[in-house]
Amino acid sequence: MKKLSVVGNWKMNLTLEEARNLAIRLSNEAVNLEDKVDVGVCPPFVFLKDVCDILKDSKICVGAQNMNAERSGAYTGEISGAMIKEIGCSLVILGHSERRTIFHESNSLVNAKLHTALTYDFNTILCVGESLEERETERTEEVVGIQLSESLKGVTKGQVRKLIIAYEPVWAIGTGKTASPEQANCVHSFIRNILKNQFGEAAQGVRIQYGGSVNSKNAKELLSQPEIDGALVGGASLDFESFFSIISDALKIEKSS
Ligand code: 13P
Repeated sequence: MKKLSVVGNWKMNLTLEEARNLAIRLSNEAVNLEDKVDVGVCPPFVFLKDVCDILKDSKICVGAQNMNAERSGAYTGEISGAMIKEIGCSLVILGHSERRTIFHESNSLVNAKLHTALTYDFNTILCVGESLEERETERTEEVVGIQLSESLKGVTKGQVRKLIIAYEPVWAIGTGKTASPEQANCVHSFIRNILKNQFGEAAQGVRIQYGGSVNSKNAKELLSQPEIDGALVGGASLDFESFFSIISDALKIEKSS
């Protein structure tokens, strides 16, 4: 059976107290989680240590929303993989569209970060996705194909077990507009084929999450699609009830690998 993966990306939200309270509620409920779904949360950097400590002995893993490609040095304002590893993170999100568009991260920078993340043995979520204009001009496959091939350059078959791809159409992020389950599944199949070309059979084990306005109402249908192996949840992961409802939906879905 393939384990689904549901990860909350808290982005730049919550106060420390809210973050701690959310983590405590998740920790209490996680006791009842079967080992069927991998669950993670990615708080802002300054809350990571508190959240890691709260979730340390739970089934929920904690990750960062970004990291620097370098190991250490004169990079004012940046955070290294070693730092987030040391405080207990096992997960990192790379190449989120907000990093790509607002902070001008290129595929080659994402590729450098990815290699560093894999050397630290992080479960690494690589985000890809097209803008509205790219979808409307039927360039989705071209754009996602380039993002994947350039961001995954040099990654070996042996490393893919640590890799998760998140397909996040930019037009669906924070807009309330979700890709239809069929639209998402179609791009996920395309992504799977690209992964197969690069990694052969090992590609079958890579989870492909969908992200973009996932909530407690649409999660079940999205997660039921054959090629959707999880969700990267933004806004709905800030509220315990809605995030846990998405996790509960994932728990009910059986997928063969
Ligand atoms: P929303 O779920 O708020 O649309 O955000 C999706 C996302 O960007 C997760 O990384």
